[in-house]
Amino acid sequence: MTATLWTNARVVTCDGDVERAPLPAALEVETEDGRITAVGAGLPRRGQQEVDCGGRLMTPALIDCHTHLVFGGDRANEFEMRLDGATYEEISRAGGGIRASMRAVREMGVEELVKVSLPRLDHLLAEGVSTIEIKSGYGLSVPAELNMLRAARRLAELRPVRIRTTWLAAHSLPPEYAGRAPDYISEVAIAGLNAAHAEGLVDAVDGFCEGIAFSTRELEPLYLRARELDLPVKIHSEQLSHSGGTAFAARHGALSADHLEHATGADARAMAAAGTVAVLLPGAFYMLRETVRPPVAAFRAAGVPMALATDCNPGTSPLSSILLTMNMGAVLFGLTVPECLAAVTSHAAHALGLQDEIGRIAPGLSADFALWDVETPAQLVARIGFNPLHARIFHGETV
Ligand code: NIG
Ligand code: FE
Repeated sequence: MTATLWTNARVVTCDGDVERAPLPAALEVETEDGRITAVGAGLPRRGQQEVDCGGRLMTPALIDCHTHLVFGGDRANEFEMRLDGATYEEISRAGGGIRASMRAVREMGVEELVKVSLPRLDHLLAEGVSTIEIKSGYGLSVPAELNMLRAARRLAELRPVRIRTTWLAAHSLPPEYAGRAPDYISEVAIAGLNAAHAEGLVDAVDGFCEGIAFSTRELEPLYLRARELDLPVKIHSEQLSHSGGTAFAARHGALSADHLEHATGADARAMAAAGTVAVLLPGAFYMLRETVRPPVAAFRAAGVPMALATDCNPGTSPLSSILLTMNMGAVLFGLTVPECLAAVTSHAAHALGLQDEIGRIAPGLSADFALWDVETPAQLVARIGFNPLHARIFHGETV
């Protein structure tokens, strides 16, 4: 296959120091066989096919590193209940929330799950996203959890996108296991993980550590099993209260800890020591009208990389816009423009353990990038409800 030279672009490589890397530079990018082979000014001509980028901004393709994009049913009624004053926890304890989605998902087969999830996937792709993490967690039985990840894998066959799957059976306790969390963890979360792993359905393991979900003690056997299987772990922690999930996950060498509104400076230091990325989810913060913000200053001080993700789900974050997520990261959490861009490229790659494959424009990485009809990264972050994507390039091909 002939090489391609992408010329006349203003390139933000996202490679290197977060605050300086996002300055657009007049660089050329050479790709061959789906990979980036050279980045520089005035690259040598050796018969490559040339693509003139028209002076547009080029960034790495965007990455949504935390979603629950495969789900069934609709929970707009819970949105109305919250507008009337009910809290997320009250709705959850009354059998709504995650368990309402569980009832819908258990009724659906793989093809139906795929069909209702495709529009959400397409919305993300239209905004320059090329890698998406998708979690199970609404089946809460072995067969239904497996079906969710089969649907996630199927989506990657239907669209030009890289999908990473995460086993999140430890998301909520289904009613048939009420009062028997340890049995659920062993009979569903761990037994199902073994089955899903054997079927090649799992890239990582996650759990929801919260008063309305699981404690660190309950999650421990699942995380030990993940490590035996050589699977990286992640966690939903310190979202509604401080439950100790972040320090627990850091002890297990977690790729990321996610949400983190109630995390502390000590949590940030534990994450830094373990190399754990902070995945911030402003969509859930916004929809639940939270007031406690994640400790961004502590993450900066400790040197914890921060990622941003949609958390696309039917309840707390019915959001399928990565561009709006960047804007929310800036407005709600106080991230700088360079931090917002790193949060959906290099740092998001890190949160998936894919830092040597995607998230930067650098030789050796997959040729995944986006061309935008804007001049600066600030214009990507500042505008709301406007999508300036000109083209998305996946494995070196315009898709
Ligand atoms: O990431 N925090 C837990 N889980 C999801 C939402 C679950 C739901 O309400 O469906 C989240 O926000
Ligand atoms: Fe989530």
